[in-house]
Formats: sequence, C-alpha cells, structure tokens
Amino acid sequence: MSASASAWTADANEALSLSLVRAPEDKASLWSREVYEGFHPTFTYPIFGEEEKVYGYKDLAIELKFASGSLAQYLNVQYSERLPASSAVDEIEDTLAKFIPEGYYTDEKRFLERVEHDAANFKPFGEKIYSYSRTAMPVSKGKNVAIPQVLSPEDQETVDYEVYHASIWAPIRRPGVAHFKSTWKTPGFREFHRRMQLFVLLYIEGGSYISEDEETWEFVVLYEKRRRRSSPDVATYHFVGYSTLFPFYCFPERVRLRISQFLILPPYQQDGHGSALYTAIYQHVLAQPRIAELTVEDPAEAFEDLRDRNDLKMLLANEKFMREGFGPEAVSSNGGKVGGVGNGRTRRGVKHRTMRAGAGKMGPPAERTWLEKWRTELKIAGRQFHRLIEMLILKHMD
Ligand code: ACO
Repeated sequence: MSASASAWTADANEALSLSLVRAPEDKASLWSREVYEGFHPTFTYPIFGEEEKVYGYKDLAIELKFASGSLAQYLNVQYSERLPASSAVDEIEDTLAKFIPEGYYTDEKRFLERVEHDAANFKPFGEKIYSYSRTAMPVSKGKNVAIPQVLSPEDQETVDYEVYHASIWAPIRRPGVAHFKSTWKTPGFREFHRRMQLFVLLYIEGGSYISEDEETWEFVVLYEKRRRRSSPDVATYHFVGYSTLFPFYCFPERVRLRISQFLILPPYQQDGHGSALYTAIYQHVLAQPRIAELTVEDPAEAFEDLRDRNDLKMLLANEKFMREGFGPEAVSSNGGKVGGVGNGRTRRGVKHRTMRAGAGKMGPPAERTWLEKWRTELKIAGRQFHRLIEMLILKHMD
C-alpha cells in the first residue's frame, strides 16, 4: 500500500467502538462509565472485508452505541477529512446498515431519550430459567476504574443476574408440505435478536447470522439486573451475553441440544459470567426430559476451557459419581470403574486405560455400562464425557 493510501486507511477494529449506554441514574456506583463504553470488536472482516480496513478517511471514529437493555442502536461516524466519493471510499453507514436492523438512531438526543424510556420499561423476553448474585467488585478488572483498596460495606453493592430462555420459533408441520414454516414464539424477541446478533460477527471467529425462517432455534440471554435509585421497586436490565442453541432430532422422540453461538460482551468477560451462562444452559438441559444431551458446535479454545472447567467442577461435586468411580468402593469392583485410584494398577496401567477411555473404547463391559449410565444421566456428549474421565483419572494420579 502506498504512503498516501495508508494515510487514508483505518483499522476497522480500532475505528469501530461499541458502548452499552445506561440512563444516568442507572450507572452502577462502583463502575466508571468507561467500563461499558468504547470497547472494540475482535473481528470486523464479515463487515469491512478480510483486511479489516476502511478506506477514505482521516481520524475515523465509528461509534455504535446500544441501549444497555433493549439494545436500541445509535450510529455516529466521525472523521476530520474524507476523500471525494469518486475515489473508492468505503461508505461506512451503507455498509453497516446491511448488518443492523432498520430504525437505528443517528440523532444522539433522540437515542438518549430512548435509553431513558427503555431503562424504565424494558423487560427481558421469555422465561427466567436461572439467576445468581454477585457483590460488585471492579477490583480485578483494572479498566479505568478508581478503586479503593478496601471497600466499606456501604460501598459494596449486590448485583443480580438473570438468564432468560426464549423459544424463538416452533416448526409447524403443514400436511402435504415437505418443508415446515417457522414461527417466532416469544413476542418482541425477533426484533431484539436482530439488534443482538451483530455481536456474533464482532466476537465469534467464523460467526454468521442464523437463518431466521427455516430452522428451529432456542436462545438464552443473560442480563444484569439492578434497582433504580429513584424507585427501587423498578428493576432495570442490562445485556451481558447470550447463546443460541440448535435442537437436533434424537431417536426416538427427544432432541440433542447444540450450543451454536456463545458470547459474553468484553466489559463482563473474565468475571465468571460465561461460566454462569453455561451452567444455566446445562441446568436447563438437565431439567428438560425432552433433551437427551448437550453438545457444542466447533468450540473456540476459550470456550472449550470454560466448558471443561465447569463440567469438571460439576462432576467433582457429584458425590455418588466420584465415590463409585474414584472412591474406595471402586477398588473392589470387578476391574474397577474407570481405573479407580488405589486399585493396585501401576500408573502406567492407569494411563493406558485413560487413553482407551479417550478413544471411547473402554475395556470391560461393566465399565462401559457404568460410564454410559452416568453419561446418559448427566446428558454429556460422548467425546466430552470421555475427555472429562481422562482428566479426572489424571487428577487422581497426582
Ligand atoms: N474474577 C476474575 N476472573 C474470573 C472470575 C472472577 N470472579 N471467575 C472466573 N474467572 C476467570 C476464569 O478462571 C477464567 O480464567 P482462565 O481464562 O484463565 O481459565 C476466565 O475468567 C474466563 O471464565 P469466565 O469468566 O467464566 O468466562 P467469560 O465470561 O470470560 O466468557 C467466553 C468466556 C465466552 C469465551 C468470552 O470470553 C467470550 O464471549 N469471548 C468472545 C466470543 C467467543 O469466543 N465465544 C466462544 C465461541 S465458541 C462457541 O460459540 C460455541
């Protein structure tokens, strides 16, 4: 690229900044504004092309703001200079408009009025399936926050988080028609999802929009819930992250639920919210007789990590499973269960068995039956379950 071209070329990931905007009275007292404002996408190639560059501007700043709950959008493009339209300049608003729904704001005053309106009125769509609480502690984030070394009790704030499940559409089978038509089940969620799905492109590598009309999808959305200072009986909700789930048919009359897209927005990452959302999905799967097991589509490394950590924690907390598989009673059973610790085998022997477990070819039938019984009960996919068993065996060898 020539020097003159590069002077007019901006890195799209840098130029685009996102904000989650709250009404002034709903700003969390312990957090500075900046925590929620001005964070950047990880990817923009689906929007601005493989190079993730925008051509034709100097000092380019693309602001895309979202009302923190309803995700109503405001777009503002600023620059100090722009090349004439004839010079292959990227038309930023036209490009972005293909990825966000119509009706976004370009007038900031009107957008802020919408934020104020939504703060008092926006409620999550669908059915609440999970909740947890946290004491607000910005301490570990190191993101622009002036943090007192010791927080007095009155400075601490308990924050609630809630997960909602939306059955987006249900297939209606029409007699005599080979395909089925999809129907949105949760009122208002279709529009909300159209505002939310941009995050998939911006944060999940290889992410793309789901088909709205031909398939069945389920969604879980995580919100931070706060009480308004002026009227504590009014709850406000702020988007944290979400996941899309695809139900596959599972013989004879159940489904295998596959996590397809899963994300937590950057201001909330590294704080246990991904684990909480995953736990919410898993608990939902366990509670639904119609769901046979939980699987994941092409997980990113960070997600695989999160899944392993949470699945292991769940298994370790399951006393019966641990006792049967790894406790003293596993020693006397025929062949042990999963190379039970202390059963007299050499470390090498245990390792060998571990590898066989990984290949899904456990030796004695009793062992296979035992593993399959637990796997089915815990609704964990086969490959993941065998990986977990390997990890547990290694852990018990230490
Ligand atoms: N304070 C500080 N750190 C914490 C806390 C806490 N209270 N709780 C957990 N952590 C640590 C964990 O130990 C973990 O550390 P590690 O990375 O060293 O193992 C780390 O924070 C992450 O765990 P969580 O906080 O539970 O996860 P997070 O909320 O950050 O979500 C995720 C992880 C989903 C991968 C998120 O980073 C994200 O959305 N990334 C972008 C999109 C993405 O890659 N999605 C997955 C694609 S794969 C798919 O969609 C199927």
